[in-house]
Amino acid sequence: MSRDAVPHYLPDGPIPRHVAVIMDGNGRWAAGRSLPRHEGHWEGMKAVREVIEGSVEAGIEILTLFAFSTENWQRPEEEIRALMTLLKIYVEKEQDELHEKGVEVRVLGDLDRMDPEARDAVECIQRVTSGGDQLRLNLMISYSGRADILRATRILARKVAAGEIAPEEIDSKALSGALHTGGLPDPDLLIRTSAEFRISNFMLWQLAYTEFHITPCLWPDFTREDLFHALAEYQRRERRFGRVSAG
Ligand code: FPP
Repeated sequence: MSRDAVPHYLPDGPIPRHVAVIMDGNGRWAAGRSLPRHEGHWEGMKAVREVIEGSVEAGIEILTLFAFSTENWQRPEEEIRALMTLLKIYVEKEQDELHEKGVEVRVLGDLDRMDPEARDAVECIQRVTSGGDQLRLNLMISYSGRADILRATRILARKVAAGEIAPEEIDSKALSGALHTGGLPDPDLLIRTSAEFRISNFMLWQLAYTEFHITPCLWPDFTREDLFHALAEYQRRERRFGRVSAG
C-alpha cells in the first residue's frame, strides 16, 4: 500500500490510552545496507522521536517502548556497549526537549545490571522530565515479562511473610500493582515491527487483552504515519475482553 493510501485514524474515534511497541528490525535494517548493527540502533533513535511526537499529536496518554530485553544481555559485548552508549546519548540529546513537550520518562526494568553511567543517565532523564503531563513514556530496559511477574510475586510474598496482607488478598489488582507498570492501565494496542509474530517475553501479564498490530516495516523506517495507520486499524477492531459482541 502506498503511503498516500494508508487510512488515517479518526481524531474523534477511540484513541488507545496506552500503546506499547516492540521495536524490532534494527539489525536487519543495518544488514540490508551492509552497515554494522549499531548503525541500525542509531537510526532507530529517529523512529523513537517520530513515535513520541505522533503519540503526543494523537492524544495517547502512555507510550511504552521495549528498548532492551533481559535476553539482550546475551548479545555480543560490543553491541551491548553500543546500546548503553546510545541510551546515554539519547538522554543528553533529548531530555530537555522531552521536558518542554511535557513528556514524563520512566525507565523500567532490572536497572542494577546497567553500568553506573547508564544508571546516572536514567536518573537524570527521570528527574528532568518529572511532572510532564502530555505523555508518559516508559522505556523498558533490561526488562522481561517473566522477570516482571517473578519480581511482583516476590514483592507480594514478602508482604504475606511480614503479615501485611493475607494470601487471599493476592488478586489480579494486587499483582498488576506490583509490576513495574503498577498504577498504569494495561496497553490497549501493541505494535511490533519487522513482521515477527512473537511476544518475545514482553509485558506477559499486561498484554492479556491488548490488540496487536504487526507491520513488516523495520523499526528505523517507522514514522508517525505508521503509528497513525496502526491507530486507524485499532479503531476498526471490536474489543470484547472475552465477552460476546455488543452488536
Ligand atoms: C531490536 O532490533 C532492537 C533493539 C534490541 C534495540 C532497540 C533500541 C532502539 C530502537 C534505539 C532507541 C534507544 C533508546 C535509548 C530509546 P534487533 O537488533 O533485534 O533487530 P534484528 O531482529 O533485525 O536483528
